[in-house]
Amino acid sequence: MARNPRVIVIDQDQIARSEVQKMLALSGFAVLGEAGYGIEAVSLAKEAEPDIVVIAVEEPVVRALQTVEAVADLLPQSPVVAYSSIKDPASIRKAMLAGVSDYLITPVREEELVKSIYDVLAQEERKQARISGEVEEPLACGTVLTVFGAKGGIGKTTISTNLGTALVQKTGQSVVLVDLDTRFGDVAILMDIPVERSIADLALPEEEINREMLQDCLYTHNTGVTILPAPVRPTDWRSVHAGHIERVITLLAQTYDYVILDTPGTFNDIVARALELATLVLLVATVDMASLKDTLLAIDMLRSWNFPQDKIKLLINATNEASNVQPQEIKRMLGREVFWSIPYDRNISTATQLGMPVVVTKPTSKASESMVELAYALSGVPQKQEQQQKQGGKGLFSRILGTTTEEKAEVKEVKVELRDA
Ligand SMILES: Nc1ncnc2c1ncn2[C@@H]1O[C@H](COP(=O)(O)OP(=O)(O)OP(=O)(O)O)[C@@H](O)[C@H]1O
Ligand SMILES: [Mg+2]
Repeated sequence: MARNPRVIVIDQDQIARSEVQKMLALSGFAVLGEAGYGIEAVSLAKEAEPDIVVIAVEEPVVRALQTVEAVADLLPQSPVVAYSSIKDPASIRKAMLAGVSDYLITPVREEELVKSIYDVLAQEERKQARISGEVEEPLACGTVLTVFGAKGGIGKTTISTNLGTALVQKTGQSVVLVDLDTRFGDVAILMDIPVERSIADLALPEEEINREMLQDCLYTHNTGVTILPAPVRPTDWRSVHAGHIERVITLLAQTYDYVILDTPGTFNDIVARALELATLVLLVATVDMASLKDTLLAIDMLRSWNFPQDKIKLLINATNEASNVQPQEIKRMLGREVFWSIPYDRNISTATQLGMPVVVTKPTSKASESMVELAYALSGVPQKQEQQQKQGGKGLFSRILGTTTEEKAEVKEVKVELRDA
């Protein structure tokens, strides 16, 4: 991607467009010019040939959209980002069809606009790479879940193993669990598997790491979860660096629906890479002041890296019975909503001793139910779908079409029509 992407701003409102122009210039973009709708916009686009076009979609909307179409035709490789005060879905859809790649509702914050521009530029780059055949390997499209926390002993491995099992057994997803605990990896202990080969056997020149080698280091647990264990001796981590981790995770994400990364209670370059590669970070904290303070520091650290905040999901795990912090207090302290809470459950330690996840040994326990629901929430698979279907409730198809069971006969007809079409 260009270091200082070149941009033009199109808006009928001169004051608004100079504000946008200033905002973009301050954020490091090379602003090549500004114009109103119509001929003026097209002439500027032709002359400037920018990397990206930022346009206001305001009344008269037909003119704005006509301008979007003209500019998109003229510069097919320069994406268009729109900002608008018009919020209704039909208008947004029309703008998308005219050629807008992203649509921001005003007032737009500077970081929101900047992120949108970089996102659509990255999307355009991927599109061009696909067109020119530069993308050789299949794209990694598994979801990488990094289970991270500011401390040790807060339940990261317990959550990783149980969530992995619930994702496989309840939602039918394929899961690989990678033990990135660079001190004493304990996934193998919690899942009771022998470790002969581990991630340390993949510490080779990155281009030499291939699927077959990776396959040799994977274990299939009887829960259905695949495991890439940590080496038994912590010293074996010395030969593993962040580049290996990236290669391994990318390969795994090409094959598995979910790649779960269990991290240690310390911070190092391997953990940093596990965070960078995450689709979602499950930020685990326990319900005590020390853990919450450390979690706040971790959030601040991620913010200082410009880590996308919407990727971080706060998960509160009650590892002991006594809880002296209220949920509102957690929200106030950490400045974010709690995404999930896992209750204290003594069945977890019994399960740990048996070397099996609690979702298997005691599926009706409080912690098991919470972790199964978490798996559903993260996978997007509707919970109790079968039960709902049996009871004639609203399933996915009826949700899309807005129909109920009584209207099932009609749904069948729609299905036929769609197939015929
Ligand atoms: N919700 C819970 N209820 C009861 N006990 C729990 C709960 N979650 C975790 N534990 C217990 O807390 C202890 C620490 O859990 P775990 O090993 O998963 O933490 P961790 O964050 O992975 O630690 P480390 O960073 O040292 O690897 C274990 O003994 C586990 O059984
Ligand atoms: Mg652990």
